[in-house]
Amino acid sequence: MCGIVGYVGEKQALQVVVDGLRRMEYRGYDSAGVAVVCDDELETRKKAGKLANLETLLGSDPLPQSTIGIGHTRWATHGGPTDANAHPHVSEDGKVAVIHNGIIENFAELRSELTANGVTLSSETDTEVVAHLLAAVLPTVGMDLAEAMRVVCRRLSGAFTLVAVHSDIPDVVVGARRNSPLVVGRGDGENFLASDVAAFVAHTRQATELGQDQVVELRRDSITVTDFDGRPAEVNDYEVTWDASAAEKGGYETFMAKEIYEQPKAVSDTLLGRVDANGRLHLDEMRLTENDLRSIDKVVVIACGTAYHAGLVAKYALEHWTRVPCEVELASEFRYRDPVVGHRTLVVAISQSGETMDTLMALRYAREQGAKVLAICNTQGSTIPRESDAVLYTHAGPEVAVASTKAFLTQIVATYLVALYVAQVRGNKFGDEIQAVVRDLNDMPQKIDLVLDTTEEVKALAQELKDVKSVLFIGRHVGYPVALEGALKLKELAYMHAEGFAAGELKHGPIALLEDGVPVICIVPPPSGRSILHEKIVSNIQEVRARGARTIVIAEEGDDVAAQYADHLVRIPAAPTLLQPLVATVPLQVFAEAMATAKGLDVDQPRNLAKSVTVE
Ligand code: M6R
Repeated sequence: MCGIVGYVGEKQALQVVVDGLRRMEYRGYDSAGVAVVCDDELETRKKAGKLANLETLLGSDPLPQSTIGIGHTRWATHGGPTDANAHPHVSEDGKVAVIHNGIIENFAELRSELTANGVTLSSETDTEVVAHLLAAVLPTVGMDLAEAMRVVCRRLSGAFTLVAVHSDIPDVVVGARRNSPLVVGRGDGENFLASDVAAFVAHTRQATELGQDQVVELRRDSITVTDFDGRPAEVNDYEVTWDASAAEKGGYETFMAKEIYEQPKAVSDTLLGRVDANGRLHLDEMRLTENDLRSIDKVVVIACGTAYHAGLVAKYALEHWTRVPCEVELASEFRYRDPVVGHRTLVVAISQSGETMDTLMALRYAREQGAKVLAICNTQGSTIPRESDAVLYTHAGPEVAVASTKAFLTQIVATYLVALYVAQVRGNKFGDEIQAVVRDLNDMPQKIDLVLDTTEEVKALAQELKDVKSVLFIGRHVGYPVALEGALKLKELAYMHAEGFAAGELKHGPIALLEDGVPVICIVPPPSGRSILHEKIVSNIQEVRARGARTIVIAEEGDDVAAQYADHLVRIPAAPTLLQPLVATVPLQVFAEAMATAKGLDVDQPRNLAKSVTVE
């Protein structure tokens, strides 16, 4: 949720840290703050609101030059988004500065202990206790900041990434991680710490994953990692596969616009190299044996938000192609209801960030029950793939806008590859049938491009509808999760009531919402696919129209039947039913983005949200 950066090297730390925060602001934007050490003095600046507010403050009240510093962007949990609650938090003696991502669950008890010892706390945060605890422990461990961090971490419960500096130890940044992300960037004469490689990829692509319960001591020319008891720890070094330009806007107004337009490439990159010359799928990187896949009797998909919608789409394809029953569940619900999973269950955890706490906790629970977990993830080196038995990476590239777009399409593609692979291994489908689907999948980037060439009408429609109170979405079969995703995009970007329904369910209650002029976006399946589905939704469109709704019909080229009932018609290229979400979702993303723009809202950083939700 929060973004963390630490730097030690030869450059101006403040510049490196603020640039890093800018690249991570998507993680939280309730407040921002920095601390640097200079001439044995610790100096901090922090400000509520977006990073721009902190930059204004730094303009009027500059920090001294320094080659060591830390910075933070906050998504508020304990305490409102005020200057006082912004990080860094500093010990009473003014020597230790701490930044934090996560929740320290026993903070109330620690706070009482500190207060009883005469410490005055100056914020409402759970983080501040760590600054005071470090200050108290340091003299007892020979002023060794890493050792003090280990001692303090052993007292903390909950999820935390912590990074600290001390004015009397001016060449060291110390970090600690439990259940929250923290990556090391290895430079030449400089080293970095961050929640996400995006913060330092402009300086180095050499990264080190930190494991659970580890403390890292960073100096200009050394990196030392131990567990919380001080034993040397094993870490995993890797190279980031994309460069800094991938996380820039590249001439687009917003990251979201850029990411929408990157979808054809993201889809084709996710398909790349996974099919051999004979049309056989090879997912060796997945690390599950053919025997593992033959023995499963159930698939359970766990995910949140948009990734959950990708899972809902996947269920239709997976059951159809493999005949293995598939359940899809919100990760936040899964482990609290005693689900039936065992060693013959394949759990598929879908996550763009690889850090979503609800999904992480659900996958840990599934593994405890003996299930094998396959992660579908977009972020190399993140926690969810690391803790899973197997992983299939989507190759969407960095997704910066809070509203997920290209990750969604690539998640669908990745789940389809898994489903086809399972069908291949278990013999549910002949090779030529699999090849035919793969050929269709390979045609999709070009079709998505066609949708992107014709977005002007959708944008104009958003402008026209910007003052409506509510927009409803209906779909059937895979069009139903597409409807849910369209509604989620509109809620998070345009802050308006938007709801997706299974079209057949409308008459069981939600149809009462309809009144004159309410826009209903209808996702129409291909007429040539399962024509019964098409007939049914055409009836549903007539039902809503009969009650005065304004129908916005998303239908494939040449579908003249559905077109008759459209107040507004949005054409998409023809695609097989199961692949239609890859084209039908795109106008909905464009619509939500255009609606937010028309309302003057922040497209990339909608209110109250954060890109990566690392608390439960
Ligand atoms: O990183 P993840 O895919 O695990 O994130 C899951 C959800 O938090 C995410 O999809 C969220 O719903 C997006 N803001 C939707 O646009």
